[in-house]
Amino acid sequence: MQFKGELDSARIITVLDDYAGYETSFLAQHGIAILLEASSGGVCKRILLDAGQSALPILHNLELLGIDPCSIGAVVISHCHYDHTEGLVDVLKAIGRENVPVVAHTTMFRPNYIFDPFIRNIGVTGKNGPAAIEEAGGLLVLVDEPFEIMPGVIVTGEVPRRRAFEKQGIGTYNIEEGRVVPDEIRDDLSLAVKVRGKGLAVISGCSHAGIINIIDWSREIASEPRVDLAIGGFHLIEASPERIRDTAQALKDLDVGKVVTGHCTGLAALCEFSRVLGDRFEQLHVGTTIDL
Ligand SMILES: [Fe+2]
Ligand SMILES: [Fe+2]
Repeated sequence: MQFKGELDSARIITVLDDYAGYETSFLAQHGIAILLEASSGGVCKRILLDAGQSALPILHNLELLGIDPCSIGAVVISHCHYDHTEGLVDVLKAIGRENVPVVAHTTMFRPNYIFDPFIRNIGVTGKNGPAAIEEAGGLLVLVDEPFEIMPGVIVTGEVPRRRAFEKQGIGTYNIEEGRVVPDEIRDDLSLAVKVRGKGLAVISGCSHAGIINIIDWSREIASEPRVDLAIGGFHLIEASPERIRDTAQALKDLDVGKVVTGHCTGLAALCEFSRVLGDRFEQLHVGTTIDL
């Protein structure tokens, strides 16, 4: 499947991250939420990727940014983890409309366990389950394959895992028919945004599919080899030095114009990106705004 849609322009605004930024009044939290303002034919649509682990800092930060949550037209959830989903129902209540599309993978609502240091479901809880989402005005759109929310804004769907160095999981498990099964976080999806005359912007939540796999897949489904921007969490916080090195090198080899990352990326990877990518690297924080 390939998508040819294009936007006239777009703006990406970070409304939640683990880092509030230097000398700001924003609130930080372990979590992420990124707002895409997509303009096409004189109409601007706001799409929120992820909802943090509570709505409170997101709503505070939106207010400081002068953005009314009522103006959010759709929410995309990158994957099931609590730091992306636990704010969802309260964000929907703040949006305050009926039938707000909430886009996610079909497996998003599975319990997703870790057992170290102690058994815990780090996936979606009942508070943000399907019934609660619909009661809060959300319209669930559960899709595994790529599709366009609007021409120029592609939800990647499930991302093929092709790069050998990105194969390793993060130690989460699913329980399937009474068996404890290592989890591949198949639900990890991202946004690929195409503005006329520009390369792609890839916006990710945690990149559990691997940021390079995500970029590879985005280039393929958008038929666009150029990548101007990769922004989001890259989940390299527990990655081996080899994986961090290979990721930085791949970003360089793919000639990604700008790499803006934070959340779960981790200090070692941030340092390596700074070293390898120089001016093309920027640390993500609340308020980071990029015009495409
Ligand atoms: Fe995650
Ligand atoms: Fe995360």
